[in-house]
Amino acid sequence: MDVISPDGISLRSNEPMRPLIIDTDPGVDDAFAIALAALNPDVELLAVTTVYGNVPLPATTRNARRVLALCEREDVPVAVGAERPLVYPHPERARYAHGADGLSGRSGVLPEPTRSVHQHGAVQLMAELLRAADQPITIAPVGPLTNIALLLGAYPELTPKIDRIVIMGGGMHGGNTTAAAEFNIWSDPEAARRVLVEERVPCVLVPVDLTLRCAVDAAWLDKLRDSGPIGAALHALTPDYREYYRKALGHDGMVLHDAVAVAEAITPGILRHTPYPLDVECAFGPARGATVADQRRKEVREATPGEDQREVNIALDTDPDALRAFLLAGLTG
Ligand code: RIB
Ligand code: CA
Repeated sequence: MDVISPDGISLRSNEPMRPLIIDTDPGVDDAFAIALAALNPDVELLAVTTVYGNVPLPATTRNARRVLALCEREDVPVAVGAERPLVYPHPERARYAHGADGLSGRSGVLPEPTRSVHQHGAVQLMAELLRAADQPITIAPVGPLTNIALLLGAYPELTPKIDRIVIMGGGMHGGNTTAAAEFNIWSDPEAARRVLVEERVPCVLVPVDLTLRCAVDAAWLDKLRDSGPIGAALHALTPDYREYYRKALGHDGMVLHDAVAVAEAITPGILRHTPYPLDVECAFGPARGATVADQRRKEVREATPGEDQREVNIALDTDPDALRAFLLAGLTG
């Protein structure tokens, strides 16, 4: 299908397959994001790496393996990453939204995986893939950034092999887990600050400000359910998550945060992003985990005191209807 960017540019991919690694904490929206990449013939899904987050690491890993089995993509290796944040304990999970098993208590509707997890851990496998790559790889972290901070800290020589890091996380006007912080950043602010402030790898940040605008509704979910076995299985994972978003949105719908970020990772330009310096609040207090973008005009920023901070491309706009159509097409073939 023709996908049009906010600037009216056709995004149909005529490029060679796009190499991608997804780092994830499935999670209902993570499951949709993994499926979106796994089902896309233009994407070379090199690995899925898992991290604690919505639920503990054993569950996120089991869920990732099951989603790949559902998509008949067990050729994609799953490697196990961090089971806790860099410095402080993970305050709490997101069972309230994703259910006790991370998939609305319905992970049993997915096939049992037949492939074991990779013999190497997440960071080692990502490093091996980067080292061997003949073209730069896109990494799409859609959970806490612990694995990514560890990768960049342990293998700085491999950063030129990373094309972009497309991150679901942050909020420009408050959060979803606390008044100030979005869940992925809040889960490990120290890791997020390393990746978004200290490192120099090109990053796109997809904050809740944009993902909320791309919420899907009952009609969209019905089309997914009726599209075939994969759509029906994904739909079956949604009850707890949909109930949470019925309260959060005030109407029947769901926010597929991670799928919006992966849509940008696999189709650059489907989201419109703008470069801003960004900081992450790591102090304990009401603002811990907040992402603070300096959206003042560059001339003003340069005229006022403050160190020269790197810029992060922050995705703040898209055509939500085109994005929802892209997601439905990508999940239903
Ligand atoms: O804030 C949304 C993010 O937190 C998504 O990645 C979702 O899966 C949850 O982990
Ligand atoms: Ca996630």
